[in-house]
Amino acid sequence: MCGIVGITRDTSVAGDLIKYLKKLEYRGYDSAGAAFSDENGLERVRRVGKIANLEKALEKGYEKYTCGIAHTRWATHGGVEERNAHPLFSSDGRVAVVHNGIIENAAFIKEKILPEGETFASDTDTEVIAHLISFYYENDPVRAVAEATSRLEGSYAIGVMFSDRPGEIYASSLHSPLVIAQTEDGSYLASDVLALPDRAKEIYRPGKGEIGVLSGKSVDFYDVSGNRLEKRPSEVGDSEKDVGKGSYEHYMLSEIMQQPEAVGNTLRELVYGGEVHVESVVGDTFISDKMDQIYIVACGSAYHTGLVAQLLFEKYSRVRTSVVLASEFRYASPILDKNTLVIFVSQSGETADTLAALRLVKETDAKTLSIVNVKGSSLWIESESSILTRAGREIAVATTKAYSAQLAAFYALALKFAYLRKGLSPEEYAAKCDALLELPEKIALTINMTRNKIVSLAKRIKDEQSAFYIGRLLDGASAAEGSLKLKEVSYINSQCYAAGELKHGTLSLIEEGTPVIASITQSGVAAKTLSNVSETKARGAYDVVITFEKYADICKDASELIIIPETDEIFAPSLTVIPMQMLGYYTALYRGCDIDKPKNLAKSVTVE
Ligand code: AGP
Repeated sequence: MCGIVGITRDTSVAGDLIKYLKKLEYRGYDSAGAAFSDENGLERVRRVGKIANLEKALEKGYEKYTCGIAHTRWATHGGVEERNAHPLFSSDGRVAVVHNGIIENAAFIKEKILPEGETFASDTDTEVIAHLISFYYENDPVRAVAEATSRLEGSYAIGVMFSDRPGEIYASSLHSPLVIAQTEDGSYLASDVLALPDRAKEIYRPGKGEIGVLSGKSVDFYDVSGNRLEKRPSEVGDSEKDVGKGSYEHYMLSEIMQQPEAVGNTLRELVYGGEVHVESVVGDTFISDKMDQIYIVACGSAYHTGLVAQLLFEKYSRVRTSVVLASEFRYASPILDKNTLVIFVSQSGETADTLAALRLVKETDAKTLSIVNVKGSSLWIESESSILTRAGREIAVATTKAYSAQLAAFYALALKFAYLRKGLSPEEYAAKCDALLELPEKIALTINMTRNKIVSLAKRIKDEQSAFYIGRLLDGASAAEGSLKLKEVSYINSQCYAAGELKHGTLSLIEEGTPVIASITQSGVAAKTLSNVSETKARGAYDVVITFEKYADICKDASELIIIPETDEIFAPSLTVIPMQMLGYYTALYRGCDIDKPKNLAKSVTVE
């Protein structure tokens, strides 16, 4: 998960390369670099660390360049050193490459294709691309890129420049996002629409084997045989624009506050007239008469929304449902047939493991449906049917508003499936649809009701070494997400456990003052979870209970009681997660962490 940008035009590009590269910093920030081309050949500058280090290096002496490519890196092959920073050059210095993805057959290419004794300046897989393009380059750049990329295995989005082709950038991609635009002032490429000029209203996405040629005056496309292609651009979707962070200090807090709107916008498209509208998704007949198995496949927080959905699908639709991490699913032996529905969930729509799982399932008779937040993303394009969450562009690495929008989409699906399969009466269905539509307002109320307590709780736990999140059933799903939110932004070692599991080992880790955060909203197991909380308290834990007012009395002995608004308990995960998100945010704030760009992470994991 790196980010690439490229610009060629009549005016200086160094400043805008940095400007647009910063829009991609969420994709990785171990090192950054740029290369420029003019009639004197290629010039390169690279720095370890944040893009600001490269920006400083480019402050003077680079204004003359009007064509350049740049890159921000999340290290996969090769350590975080300047020599491994992109752009990488061929050994003869004729070719410069920036790359996002992983070349899985780099070693094979080095040993079997490139000339013996070829020297490499880096430990990266990417450098092989530069060498290979140069190896095939005999004054025909398109052919050289075509020959080289046809031999690559894995994933790539590349920007290429040649020392003897000043002002030209060549681009190609496979299984990694790449967008290209032509505006009135020049040609642009980027890993993400976010890193294109706002005035770019139409974009091109190169298909497999297509090579883009950016000249500044135009963008042209060719196939691997060098034939000119007529490509139609697509409009930039609203879900792809950066809405900014408003007056908030961080995107994460801004996006927490945007959740009522994100959930409201998502539900508005799915639930109206007292019922759920997802007809175009997989067909009502399939749902009611044929579907006998559901897999939910995702990573990280998206996976946690699947934990919620599984419980609801099985309870109300009586359909066998499995939730599987995409990185596991793609190497396991799932049983898929024409009566199976596989639901893929992803904010970015570019997560490599989730995409790989989708591509596997598409080789079977199973039906595929994706819940995705970015229109035009690979997952959105490649799924048979999609539900677009309307959270808007999410920048913070720690997802919040997209997570909540995914939950909303799953609730709508669960109600629709239940209704079609007679798991809910028409009256129950209508009542739950009404309750669902109240969620945006209840999320806003939850933020207001719990924020001050969470701020003081964050101050209390900020120096803890560990924390535990516990719950049962839907509360357990929330606990999983709450734990991830805390650990990924505050770096506190937070673990999530099914509340009933603590006594089978984890209880040994409870020390005096260890924070244990429990959500208690599910009527059938509330008392059970409370007794698990008491077991931790008896061993010194600082127990925090997130619950409805109606359970406040039985929870009155908790060290900290966080009350959330009443709602139909099947929708409780949307409310219990709010204080947990804010706890992660404020704890990270008081620990001085880089909240929007946590160490070692990136927003879109486009590599395995
Ligand atoms: C969540 O806060 C994390 N950033 C991460 O777990 C994320 O949910 C996961 O990488 C999946 O990303 P996706 O939704 O874009 O596929």
